[in-house]
Amino acid sequence: MADDIKAVSTEVVPVDSQRPEAAVIERAAALLRAGELVVFPTETVYGLGGDALREEAARRIFAAKGRPLTDPLIVHIAQVEELERVAAAVPERARRLAEAFWPGPLTLILPRGEQVPRLVTAGLETVAVRMPSHPVAQALIRAAARPIAAPSANRFKHVSPTTAQHALADLNGRVPLILDGGPTPVGVESTVVDLCAEVPRILRPGGTSLEALRQVLPEIEAPQPPRASEPGQSEREEGEAQRAPGQLLVHYSPTVPLCLFEGEDQAQRTAIVAEALRHLKRGERVGILAASEDVEALRPCEESGALVRAPASLEEPEQVAAALFATLRELEAAAVDVILCRSFRPVGLGLAVQDRLRRAAGGWVIRVDPSATAAEEVR
Ligand code: TXA
Ligand code: MG
Repeated sequence: MADDIKAVSTEVVPVDSQRPEAAVIERAAALLRAGELVVFPTETVYGLGGDALREEAARRIFAAKGRPLTDPLIVHIAQVEELERVAAAVPERARRLAEAFWPGPLTLILPRGEQVPRLVTAGLETVAVRMPSHPVAQALIRAAARPIAAPSANRFKHVSPTTAQHALADLNGRVPLILDGGPTPVGVESTVVDLCAEVPRILRPGGTSLEALRQVLPEIEAPQPPRASEPGQSEREEGEAQRAPGQLLVHYSPTVPLCLFEGEDQAQRTAIVAEALRHLKRGERVGILAASEDVEALRPCEESGALVRAPASLEEPEQVAAALFATLRELEAAAVDVILCRSFRPVGLGLAVQDRLRRAAGGWVIRVDPSATAAEEVR
């Protein structure tokens, strides 16, 4: 993996998230025009941006992230007219989705336009395009006057950043500038929809819900759940792009092992308490990611020293999504030895939350059954 990057000093510059200051945007845009990288907020997560039409900028993105060249980048545009510049064809279905959901957390997979270097698409003849709604992202792309390739601004395989401080923790010394526009509102990455397949299909659930997409395209297929048997990066031939990019089971991992509980609510609580106390007895530090409805039941764990975080209610998948990555990073930073996590219903943005948590668990899922005496562990 390319890690031979020149160390730079990283500056974090505040920017108004609603009315970005022209001077700050111009400074960042000048870097992008010069082929340099800039970290900027979008409505989903922070992105690590570079000129999408310049191979050298794409190379810098892969190097700064430590990302293998087989994982393609998303190209960001500021207005629909720029679609023609990056895509070779725009099917009618794509137009309808763009009209309904852009600007916003939706990425469309389309035939690659000739101007987009193959490095950006990892050699694929398709390109991922999205038009973000965040005022800073919008202003920056317009000022740079070119499409901007931007993966999430985290080191490869780490949790995506939802604040400038998360991005700094991962990329300090690897990028010259981070625009700090505060926490990103959606909190999970964009939904990726493949429009090059016979039937349009979600490749990655995200900030635009399946339910909302189906109101525009009823035939759209739900994403395949991540599978533990998915071949790992190392098993792929060098230079071969991923068949379903970004679908590696371990893709959004916190650096701490995460155990995901699935099943009936009360059974989950009972199992989490038992598992937490087992770890605590061994002298380990335990972090728990729960819902506000769980707090009472988890009191014994808290009293025994577990760190319990319950950022939202089970009934508020959008709030769960908004807080998810920040909570995982907070528990990580608290140096816990294990994170025990409840599951959330796959409704609305809950589908993206479920997907990220299953990936973070990397197969360590405990399915609890209220009728069984012991939880069944699936590894
Ligand atoms: O919300 C987002 O999408 C954020 C912000 C910064 O815009 N970006 C982001 O980028 O999440 P990244 O690189 O972390 O994830 C891009 C996903 C990956 O799973 C990648 O494999 C997939 O999009 N992708 C990119 N090009 C593709 C293509 N041609 N075909 C299929 N999947 C593609
Ligand atoms: Mg990413």
